[in-house]
Amino acid sequence: MKLANCQDNLLVWGDNLQVMRALQAGYSQRFALAYLDPPYNTGSRKAGAYDDSMSSSGWREFFGERLLALWPLMRPDAVVMIQIDERELGSVLMILERQERRIINHVVVKMSELSGVKMNHAASRLPKLKEHLLIVAVGPDSLLCNLRLPKTPASLVRYCKYYTQVLLNRDDDVSAWQLQPVRQAAAELWGWEPGVEGAEAALLALKIEHSKSLVYRTNNAFVAADKGRGIRPLTSPQGRQYIAWDDKQMLFLSDHLDEPLGDLWSDLSTINLNKEGGVAFRHSKKPEKLLERCLQLSTQPGDWILDPFAGSGTSAAVAIKMQRRFVTIELGDHAQTVTRKRLDGLGDFRFLRFTP
Ligand SMILES: C[S@@+](CC[C@H](N)C(=O)[O-])C[C@H]1O[C@@H](n2cnc3c(N)ncnc32)[C@H](O)[C@@H]1O
Repeated sequence: MKLANCQDNLLVWGDNLQVMRALQAGYSQRFALAYLDPPYNTGSRKAGAYDDSMSSSGWREFFGERLLALWPLMRPDAVVMIQIDERELGSVLMILERQERRIINHVVVKMSELSGVKMNHAASRLPKLKEHLLIVAVGPDSLLCNLRLPKTPASLVRYCKYYTQVLLNRDDDVSAWQLQPVRQAAAELWGWEPGVEGAEAALLALKIEHSKSLVYRTNNAFVAADKGRGIRPLTSPQGRQYIAWDDKQMLFLSDHLDEPLGDLWSDLSTINLNKEGGVAFRHSKKPEKLLERCLQLSTQPGDWILDPFAGSGTSAAVAIKMQRRFVTIELGDHAQTVTRKRLDGLGDFRFLRFTP
């Protein structure tokens, strides 16, 4: 069976290897992102759950041939994200090396809380909290979007301490700019009461409110080499604009209230994950916030995403909510009872039973 070129969102009930091979004709180079969350080979064979027990070599063959079927479906500038835990991480790295694929980032994601059954062993073994997300390039132009996150409250408190001066006349010519210590400005201009209970928290809030005028001096070799004095605009030979403050660079708090996303994602909550999406899918359901981030990093509205291991359908649910289009594949009977149920009512999609 071939799957004809179609513009509808698709949930396919069938084996992803056969389905991806059937997609080759109509869906070549279509997807901007593939998110793969395969069985982790936990050894579990519980009734009512998907079979998650293979030999290690069997798992490598299973995953390797599915990756080979995936690449032709991907846009040349696409990325593939593979989520896995430590059991088969080594296998995935080996397969990617053999298939000569470039890893853009190896992200560590917090996927659990310090609670539940794992705490029974906490005295003799560190509770498992993390998983791995390998972000793999399809071609040389595979890039991630620049994603910035608000600083955490704790890091904001630490960072704001450096900003001790207020620019009083930002709208004037730079050479006429005047500064005042922030505590003085806050008391005289913004109604801050020093010494009362909660004064420091109130000052922090005022700094954030006036962050466009809160400034800090930082080292910058280019500015230092200028050897000028006072506050003045400078342009580097590469055309970068600076505000120099004596031999340092002037930074504005408003430009630093957020920070670039790093490769350690510990901010995503997994509390009450079992309730998310209105369907139960024990143990391997992923948080929508995680998929939201994956889609933000690698896709634009209207782009296609492929998830060959749908499970409860998290990636498809998020794709609908973020105006992306999807093909998602699930082998288990829960394609009908869980995945389909989750997506029903969220947006339009076709449900197909794949028979080779
Ligand atoms: C780790 S779970 C995915 C969880 C999913 N990301 C979520 O958030 O709900 C892996 C899923 O892959 C499915 N699966 C395993 N082998 C498959 C195959 N050959 N074709 C399609 N789906 C498969 C399993 O039935 C299971 O639902």
